[in-house]
This record gives sequence, structure tokens and C-alpha cells, in this order.
Amino acid sequence: MELIRLDKVGFTYPDGTAALENIDFNVFAGERVAVLGANGAGKSTLFQLFNGLLQPSVGRVLVKELPVEKNNYKTVRRIVGMVFQDPDDQLFSSSVRQEISYGLLNLGLPRESIGETVRWALQVVGLAGYEDKSPYNLSGGEKKRVALASVLAMKPEVLVLDEPTAALDPRGVAQLIELLNEINRQLNITLVFATHDVDVVPLLADRVYVMNRGRIVLTGSTTEVFSDVGAIRGNNLRLPRVAHLVELLQRDRMQEKAALPLTIGQARKAIRTMNG
Ligand SMILES: Nc1ncnc2c1ncn2[C@@H]1O[C@H](COP(=O)(O)OP(=O)(O)OP(=O)(O)O)[C@@H](O)[C@H]1O
Ligand SMILES: [Mg+2]
Repeated sequence: MELIRLDKVGFTYPDGTAALENIDFNVFAGERVAVLGANGAGKSTLFQLFNGLLQPSVGRVLVKELPVEKNNYKTVRRIVGMVFQDPDDQLFSSSVRQEISYGLLNLGLPRESIGETVRWALQVVGLAGYEDKSPYNLSGGEKKRVALASVLAMKPEVLVLDEPTAALDPRGVAQLIELLNEINRQLNITLVFATHDVDVVPLLADRVYVMNRGRIVLTGSTTEVFSDVGAIRGNNLRLPRVAHLVELLQRDRMQEKAALPLTIGQARKAIRTMNG
């Protein structure tokens, strides 16, 4: 099932900045999709079209075949849960409980079930017992997880995350990757995330769109996209570090070009093979 679809979408900001041009994009149920691009490529702009925070200047945006326009915002926003790049743009309540309850109260759900959902969402993100804390007093990583919990509590069909690993320490990044993969597999929630961190992509995406200067310049499975080394580098990106290492080793040994590994696990196999 197609959850999100963009046909020939363009978007120009009021000051005349053409941030998106001719975007064809889709997301199917169950997938993990990465939108990879350097600073200013248009990732955050693209994401704001998914739930009507921005309206396209040309083309159309559909969520489960519904046009994303005023009459449908309520339905669309129940389907698409959005976690912003900066949690300070998302968090506005004086307690974590209120923060996570907000959307649920708006749905008119009974208090009893809201309390349970809050507990569940906090447990999923590893912040059990944080109900009475003020979001303002949390660390950056904790804030990001509260923002994620408040979106998860609404049980969206697709979770859209703008730079989910930015500003996290290495352990935080590893934990978040594991958490998002669990959310995808166990809760059956589709993932779409934006990043410029190529090392995260092979661990968290089945399919990739590469953006540059407001356009989609490359798309395919994660393996396909990273096998086009020239296009990756030509669009202000680099290979995952392990892939780059093996590329250098292959060059030293003048070996025939094999597919580059994208994760440490794959690299281990490739290096073993090279050592015969
Ligand atoms: N409110 C705005 N008004 C005018 N131009 C904007 C506005 N917001 C973003 N832009 C411009 O649109 C382009 C795309 O910006 P966007 O924030 O979508 O990029 P991004 O890929 O999310 O970048 P980053 O990795 O830095 O978050 C940039 O050239 C940016 O300067
Ligand atoms: Mg951005």
C-alpha cells in the first residue's frame, strides 16, 4: 500500500527560494526510507509537505490517496506522525506527561487509557518514569526521545523523522537506530527519515532518495544507491566509512571491483575474502 505519494512537486518559499523542484517520491507500508542530502538540499522542506505544514507550489501530495489539504489535515496527521529536527520546536508543555497526553486529549480519549499510553510510549523510548519531569530540564537526547514518544503515542502508520540522530552521542545514535528498527518491525510502523549521515543509512533504510539542491538526484535500494560512488561524491556526500576503507584496500590490491560493504558486518566478510 502506498502511504505517501508526491507527483512532480515543486516548492518555492515566499522570498523566492526554489527549495524543491520536480519531486516524484513515494513510501510504501512497512518500508524504511532514507532521504539523504547535504545541508540545504531540501529535506526538511520536503517533510513539511507530508502533513500540510507546507503546501506545494506545483504538483500534488497524497497520503493514502487523500490530497493533503485543509479538509483532510486531521486524517492525514493521524496517519503521518512527524518528529522535527529540533525537539525545542516540538516540545511546549511543562511536564513530560502533559506533552505526551496533549494529542490524545484532543482525540477525546478517556483519561485512564491516556495514562496507560503515556507509560507505554515512555517505556518504548527508554524513559520510563519520566512523566513528571519538565521537558526543559532534559538533555538534548532525552528531549528527542520525549518528542518521539509524543508522536508514537498517537500510533501513526508512518513515522517521519527529520535528522533523528543529529546531536546524539555515539551510544545515543546506536540506541536510537535499534529503537527505530524495533518500532518498524514490532509495531509495524513505516519509517521515513532525513539525514546527512551516510553511516546511519545502511543500518536504518531499505531504500534511499538522494537529494541535492532541491532535486532527487539518485534513488534505489540502499545497496544500489551506494554502489554509484561517483554520484554519491558528486552530490556532496561520501561513502560509509567502512565502504571507503574497503575501496582503498581494493585499490591497493588492484583487485577486481566487488560490491562495497556498507556496514561493519559486511566489511568483515569482504576483508576476510580479500585475505584469501
Ligand atoms: N523559511 C524559509 N524561507 C526561505 N528559504 C528557506 C526557508 N527555509 C528553508 N529555506 C531554504 O530552502 C532550502 C532547503 O532548506 P531545507 O531546510 O529544506 O534543507 P535541509 O536539507 O533540511 O537542510 P539541513 O540538512 O541543513 O537541515 C535552503 O536553501 C534554505 O536556505
Ligand atoms: Mg533540515
